[in-house]
Amino acid sequence: MSKQTKWVKEDPNNKFVFWPSEEMKKKAWISDESIYEEAAKDPVSFWAERAKKGLEWIQLWTETYQWNPPHYKWFINGKINASYNAVDRHNKTWRKDKAAIIWEPEPVNEPKRVLTYKDLYRDVNKFANVLKTLGVKKGDCVGIYLPMIPEVQIAMLACARIGAIHSVVFSAFSGESLNNRMVDAKAKILVTADGYHRRGKIINLKVNADIGVRNTLVKHVIVFKRANNEVNMVEGRDLWWHELMEEAPIYCEPEVMDSESTLFILYTSGTTGKPKGIVHDTGGYLTVAYLTAKWDFDLHDDDIFWCTADIGWITGHTYSCYGPLLNGATILIYEGALNFPEVDRWWEIVEKYGVTIFYTAPTAIRMMLRWGEEWPKKHDLKSIRLLGTVGEPINQDAWMWYFNHIGNGRCPVIDTWWQTETGATLINALPGIGPFIPTVAGRSFPGTTHDILDETGQPVKIGEGGYLVQKSPFAPGMLRGIYRDPERYKAQYWSIYGDRIYYTSDGAIWWDDLGNIRLTGRVDDVMKVAGHRLSTAEVENALTQHISVAECAVVAAPHDVKGEVPIAFVVLKQDVSPSHTLENALFNQVVRVIGPTAKPARIVLTDALPKTRSGKIMRRILKALVKGEMIGDVSTLMNPETVEDLKKKVNQTD
Ligand code: PRX
Repeated sequence: MSKQTKWVKEDPNNKFVFWPSEEMKKKAWISDESIYEEAAKDPVSFWAERAKKGLEWIQLWTETYQWNPPHYKWFINGKINASYNAVDRHNKTWRKDKAAIIWEPEPVNEPKRVLTYKDLYRDVNKFANVLKTLGVKKGDCVGIYLPMIPEVQIAMLACARIGAIHSVVFSAFSGESLNNRMVDAKAKILVTADGYHRRGKIINLKVNADIGVRNTLVKHVIVFKRANNEVNMVEGRDLWWHELMEEAPIYCEPEVMDSESTLFILYTSGTTGKPKGIVHDTGGYLTVAYLTAKWDFDLHDDDIFWCTADIGWITGHTYSCYGPLLNGATILIYEGALNFPEVDRWWEIVEKYGVTIFYTAPTAIRMMLRWGEEWPKKHDLKSIRLLGTVGEPINQDAWMWYFNHIGNGRCPVIDTWWQTETGATLINALPGIGPFIPTVAGRSFPGTTHDILDETGQPVKIGEGGYLVQKSPFAPGMLRGIYRDPERYKAQYWSIYGDRIYYTSDGAIWWDDLGNIRLTGRVDDVMKVAGHRLSTAEVENALTQHISVAECAVVAAPHDVKGEVPIAFVVLKQDVSPSHTLENALFNQVVRVIGPTAKPARIVLTDALPKTRSGKIMRRILKALVKGEMIGDVSTLMNPETVEDLKKKVNQTD
């Protein structure tokens, strides 16, 4: 670690507190603290000014913000097109020859691909015409089930160009998960690939895609040939991307879209077994994607921005597509696994391309920490000037390791708190202002207001834990609803503290009186498994679909690397005897129904689950068991004897 002593000072609580270097302060878009105060005085004007300056509008809005609890709108009557802003604008300038997307394939001997803004413009236009020719109209939904290849951004932007709503599904989700989402979204087209490379193998994505479109409204499946693996093409339904593109006209006029029209939906896990389609608007979302990409990551023209998140998650949408492209920046995307062929693959890529901004999840950092600092040391990482994290709370060791061994003590670590629902980052330190404190995300982004409340709705004092909420005016990129489920929208976000306060479902603590916030994790039954958002109920649903399962309960257990992992407690049907084969079948069941990310770390077979006298499963007890915490009073249970039995089983190492 290079000694930058003026950078590092210790606070009275013996925690590290870091400040921006002089160099960062000089370069950063924002290094004057007064921005917070200025924005707080008139947040609506703050956002209006940024939206006006940062984006090109076809028609400006007539009213900036409207609030009819629990609904809000921004830039009312404004007209805009997302694809025009992300691509055409830059194609008209010197940036047309600048790299928009650099793609690194997993196989090391395969050539990279670089798409300039001009290339992106060409392909987005052509693919927009492909979609139109296949009958996609403004407001229709297009499913996108692609690996990390540039066609994913092309497909998203092509949808945006013609006013179609995209619904991207994580390529590691199963065919069944895809199917549920395609049914709910009423998608007309699915864009997928033959396969992709993962840890040296070819994954056949088309097989899953075929399951995904069963009994849906999908008329055509467009297949990009990525891995050249053999796939089954259904005559009349399935079409090759390259063939369609050959014939497509080169220009497609961008649709004039209402600012409030839906740009995309993205399914995420809630507390029930059914994922919810989070709805994002156009103008508001673009404003926050643009501004947060610029300010949080201090994006400049000479930067190469690598956000390692898969496009199937909101982080991928906002920081591997819209945010950087709206800024005319260069993004890097990588197809494969972080440890293939060796655990230094990421650092090799950073060195190869001179990545300057690197954004990843705490889980990945904890894995790197375990593998040891000799791996990053093999590479020249001097190009990196800013580090970011997202997705789950980061522990101090991981933060410090990242800071020292990847950033070499020179780079701020921007710990960004946000959600699929918020569309873009909301709580983090700004790189030119700081402070950067391990385990403390930072302050509310200028123009947004958060509070931490106790159960009765009273604000908590500094140092006390409570529930994180957001107050009006809500950030322009906040969700506009849950797709076709207005009741769930109200119940989920606007019922705990009423319809004027957005409830995040996250625990938080005020770190100081400057507004710095430490996030402590979800307070509902949503797990963050290796940064991936999953609901315990979804895993339960998958398991109870198995013929041998009578009932089950899934809870999250803490995990050193992954943050959290699902543990399943399963009661088998009476005539079924436990066996290793059956246990394996249950693991596979979850992988088949949801995908490998949801696979339980453990399945505990048991004769009974702890229940109240009214028959409700007491998850509180199971949670305490897997966390090794005090179990507390069991006298109200119908079957208190199961607790001792479960305790033995949980503590058994098999
Ligand atoms: O619990 C919070 C956690 O991730 C949740 C949102 O998950 P998702 O919608 O998948 O979006 C993740 C990427 C934005 C939040 O409710 N979370 C996200 N970022 C942080 C975090 N927890 C602590 N610190 C963070 N920086």
